[in-house]
Amino acid sequence: MDTKIVKIKEGHIDGALIQEAGAILKAGGLVAFPTETVYGLGGDALNPLSSKKIYAAKGRPSDNPLIVHIAEFGALAPIVREIPENARKLAEKFWPGPLTMILYKSDLVPYETTGGLDTVAIRMPGNRIARELIRAAGGYVAAPSANRSGRPSPTLAKYVAQDLEGRVEMIIDGGDVKIGLESTIVDLTSDKPMVLRPGYVTRQDLLEVLPEIEEDSTLMRDDSGQAPRAPGMKYRHYAPKGDLTIVKGVEEKVLAYINAQCEKSGNKKTGVIGTDATVRRYDADVCKSVGCREDEEAVARELYRILREFDDEDVEVIYAEAFDDSGIGQAIMNRLLKAAGHKLVEVF
Ligand code: TXA
Ligand code: MG
Repeated sequence: MDTKIVKIKEGHIDGALIQEAGAILKAGGLVAFPTETVYGLGGDALNPLSSKKIYAAKGRPSDNPLIVHIAEFGALAPIVREIPENARKLAEKFWPGPLTMILYKSDLVPYETTGGLDTVAIRMPGNRIARELIRAAGGYVAAPSANRSGRPSPTLAKYVAQDLEGRVEMIIDGGDVKIGLESTIVDLTSDKPMVLRPGYVTRQDLLEVLPEIEEDSTLMRDDSGQAPRAPGMKYRHYAPKGDLTIVKGVEEKVLAYINAQCEKSGNKKTGVIGTDATVRRYDADVCKSVGCREDEEAVARELYRILREFDDEDVEVIYAEAFDDSGIGQAIMNRLLKAAGHKLVEVF
């Protein structure tokens, strides 16, 4: 299929293009679009055939449920069994924005969209292009990240095109995303609200609204012997082609360890994910900075782009500095650990 690629500016939305994209979705087609977190691969969430097409286009296992995107709070009630008080409070504070809630689904939502589950993930994106598109599509757009399964989520339209050109009817290029990591997922169907995927909305942010919150024990470790509660988190997502190891410790030790490892790696092409303060001191073939270590928002924004660049440059062995795992750092380390298959070396 031919993929039409169009540019739309968030500050100056072309209504005719949005209507065209909405019509594609209503007719059961697929449109990739920007959100504030990462680009999404959209289809009509209430049409089981559209969900099947999404799985096929992504090359994704169909037991991995999709997030339903809505454009206004009023769209929530028809797709859930009930709206608990906690959901109301969270929506008031964080929607539109990078927070996804899991609730019990109504009969309107097909099992093809929820991977066979009786629960449904819902989010109202902050990006205005996304919300206009959702309205034009009839109100409910299922959208996983717009990457082929196993690749880092796309933060630029050119990466969407790399993965999905020829597989979707349209790609909307809305420029850079603001956040760069997928939304925080909170399950409101368990006894206590539980974070299934950390993101830009942090645990501390959530505790301003909820009296208590638990965390899926598999988020930062792989030794708990339990399956993650979000089916998608069990797959080795975000995996770069190169063999990635994370190195944790004081700066000088980390530098010395990584440089020694690169030296030992023979004729393999080596890469380092460093920071502004350290990047010039590494001896790898390709050294990249994710920005200033203290600026976690910038690190979140750059991480997936850098992982993709290492793929494009066929780097075979990659070392990454570790980050603090509090605040947004928890989401950064969660994605890095998954990309590395939890390979973490501590140097003292
Ligand atoms: O920021 C985001 O959330 C992006 C943008 C496009 O909105 N979307 C996104 O979707 O990251 P995706 O499909 O790549 O990740 C959805 C995650 C998966 O790990 C999936 O298993 C989990 O949400 N999930 C979806 N529905 C669920 C449910 N009913 N119960 C538990 N986990 C669920
Ligand atoms: Mg994804």
